[in-house]
Amino acid sequence: MLFSVMHIIHLVTVILWIGGLAFVTMFVLPMIIRMQNPLEKVLFFQGIEHRFAPRAKIYNAIVGITGFVMLYLTGWYRLLFTHKGIPLLFMLIIWIFWFIMLFGLEPVIIRRMLDRMAKSGEAMEIETIFARMNRMHWLLLMISLAASIAGIIFGHGYF
Ligand code: HEM
Repeated sequence: MLFSVMHIIHLVTVILWIGGLAFVTMFVLPMIIRMQNPLEKVLFFQGIEHRFAPRAKIYNAIVGITGFVMLYLTGWYRLLFTHKGIPLLFMLIIWIFWFIMLFGLEPVIIRRMLDRMAKSGEAMEIETIFARMNRMHWLLLMISLAASIAGIIFGHGYF
């Protein structure tokens, strides 16, 4: 019973988290890039960032907690460094990467980026920063989808 609850919460949170990331990557950032006014770009991005970043931290924590509880309940942690556990280990590594990004690096990186944009005020530089940010979001989305695929492969014994 507890396992089922954890499993459901794990999946629904992954949907909200990675779905939100996909939306920002595929629709919001390209929309910002097409905006003409550099100030409007920065303010719009800041508005989204202020709302999504705290939520992404909560999603990351919930996915981690439910994942670890499932491992504890089933004893699957014993599989972590075995052949069968490769997809599980992959999911865990991507989660740790996200944890470090969200709780350690992101506040520093984003703050520095916004500071740079505010100081420079030059359309060209802001253009370059947003293009780089879009590429970075695509990369993050791809590795997150890869972690989801690893979860499906592990959970359904496809490996
Ligand atoms: C970026 C982080 C993560 C993502 C995107 C993710 C995604 C997923 C997805 C999509 C599934 C498939 C569920 C199904 O098909 O029924 C899954 C299953 C699972 N995840 Fe994760 N997960 C993440 C992190 C973790 C962590 C950190 C752990 C544990 C330490 C974990 C443990 C599990 C377990 C044990 C299952 C198998 C449940 C089952 O179907 O029996 N996950 N995950």
